[in-house]
Amino acid sequence: MAHIVKILDGFSFIPRSELNLLEALESQKVEIEYQCREGFCGSCQVQLVAGEVEYFAEPIAFVPDGKILPCCCYAKSDLTIEIPGGCRIKKEQ
Ligand code: FES
Repeated sequence: MAHIVKILDGFSFIPRSELNLLEALESQKVEIEYQCREGFCGSCQVQLVAGEVEYFAEPIAFVPDGKILPCCCYAKSDLTIEIPGGCRIKKEQ
């Protein structure tokens, strides 16, 4: 079932089911930090304001309460997230 992802101070979208949450945000041209893309570094961390995610790989990085690592999870319900520094959209080249 498709879930809605709402970005605080941004917009809402329905991610394609085959994309993890980081890929889904990138598909919407949202600027988001990342390095390892495998749950090791913690740099993709965002605030989970509402909803639930499901990890397909257990994160190695420390994940504080209320935070999630989008590179290794999917939306399990409708989500509201807050991206550090706000929702910025990549400019077209
Ligand atoms: S990019 Fe490294 S934990 Fe997500």
